[in-house]
Amino acid sequence: GNGAHVAALVIGTGYGGSVAALRLAQAGVDVHMIEMGMAWDTPGSDGKIFCSTLSPDNRSYWLRTRTKAPLNYFLGFPIDRDISRYTGVLDAEEFSGITVYQGRGVGGGSLVNGGMAVTPKRENFAAILPSVNADEMYGTYYPRANAGLGVGTIRSAWFDSTDWYQFARVGRKHAQRSGFPFVFVPDVYDWNYMEQEAAGTATKSALAGEILYGNNYGKKSLQKTYIAQAKATGKVTISPLHKVTSVAPAAGGGYTVVIQQINTTGDTTATKTVTADRVFFAAGSVGTSKLLVKLKATGALPNLNAEVGKGWGDNGNVMCGRANHLWDPTGSSQSTIPCAGIDNWAAGGAFAEVAPLPTGIETFASFYLSITKNPNRAQFSWNATTGQVDLNWQTAWKQPGIDMAKTIFDKINSTEGTIYRTDLFGVYKIWGDHLTYHPLGGAVLNKATDNYGRLAGYPGLYVIDGSLIPGNTSVNPFVTITALAERNIEKIIATDL
Ligand code: FDA
Repeated sequence: GNGAHVAALVIGTGYGGSVAALRLAQAGVDVHMIEMGMAWDTPGSDGKIFCSTLSPDNRSYWLRTRTKAPLNYFLGFPIDRDISRYTGVLDAEEFSGITVYQGRGVGGGSLVNGGMAVTPKRENFAAILPSVNADEMYGTYYPRANAGLGVGTIRSAWFDSTDWYQFARVGRKHAQRSGFPFVFVPDVYDWNYMEQEAAGTATKSALAGEILYGNNYGKKSLQKTYIAQAKATGKVTISPLHKVTSVAPAAGGGYTVVIQQINTTGDTTATKTVTADRVFFAAGSVGTSKLLVKLKATGALPNLNAEVGKGWGDNGNVMCGRANHLWDPTGSSQSTIPCAGIDNWAAGGAFAEVAPLPTGIETFASFYLSITKNPNRAQFSWNATTGQVDLNWQTAWKQPGIDMAKTIFDKINSTEGTIYRTDLFGVYKIWGDHLTYHPLGGAVLNKATDNYGRLAGYPGLYVIDGSLIPGNTSVNPFVTITALAERNIEKIIATDL
């Protein structure tokens, strides 16, 4: 409540925030988590907590009156539809040159993501976090993160036989015929549950089009892993539909935190002020960067250093589809959970996930989300005129990523005698270059913070989320975000408390 004092306040309930809360609580610290999104623990009138990708309703998007599907066209027709404004689970946050998709609610991105849980290859690690001891990461913190997240891999005999992964087997065949390594990708989806879905003995989720707007069953989101464990300590409380707007040094030590309570149409219903001995910024790359840039510029935290807001990247995300021949159908039944990718990182700077297009009909399309080594980095800055934080990314900055993805798909098209789809992102548009799912950076480790996430200039303020990572992880990011949070919180607990 208003006027309260807490030992540790965590802003955000995604990967970084959940790790911080659990480990602090286990060390005996009382933790309060503030989350701007909803709790997502109560079914709607249809008996489900989340709506399906195929029929989005108000639960789908964060404060929008029209959906903004990442794949916004189908067979050349726009598929977005009107919805009522609500604090839905997926935010399509628009900056001038890019739309950044993020999860909103208790569990952060784990509510909406594909669950692909990938540990980067060790030889790529120095490029990701050069100041971090890789022996410790690969010996201790990556294994700890994978265990805490509940990561598993599809059973290969089932992969080889089920209709639900025909699209991925077509992806494998095409990758191998062009000489690219095809790799299985671990996931936090419960693979045994998915086999039961297929057998008709469990309610369908991944096999019923559920993913972008939440999975009702099967996916081990943070609500089922780290957050459940954190709550079980009895030392962690969570306030959903509360948004942190300010953090500033308090007169008697510690920090004053201003929090707006909002309703489900996004209006502020109360403003609360609390004090905290320690504050952990875990609002995600965009959320943490926006807060820090604003607080530095407006005088609440003027001593933050000049690195704040810098080093932001899109993890090189680009999407594309290929049109297959009629003898290569990808299946009318597709699981929403990807399980494999094409690895051309070393030779071409691209790692392409073989992604589903779960439309319910045969499309003869192969669809891919590529993670590329795009070197472009953007910066957040305070715009005093609008009172908003801007990001200076330009759409044209995707071109290096497109060129890297083409090292895979130009070759596959040439081997197969096929072409790119031009109907998925517009009319005659091949590349999905308008978005990212993987925002990273903005408060980079060992630059805006010390080598463990302590914010320069303010003892007791920490960054512990994807904003620490300088723009790219070479694979999907949440295992690295989790492992780095495990490393940093262990050091902070040992030395600062
Ligand atoms: P995260 O974004 O998870 O959490 C931040 C939380 O803080 C959010 O809940 C937000 O609402 C809250 N918040 C923000 N500002 C606040 C404020 N001022 N006050 C209070 N709360 C605030 N990654 C991967 O590894 N494998 C995958 O398969 C995918 N797939 C995927 C699909 C889609 C559609 C998306 C959008 C993303 C993915 N990702 C992914 C990316 C992954 O989900 C992402 O990298 C992590 O969730 C980031 O974790 P963080 O802890 O940094 O923040």
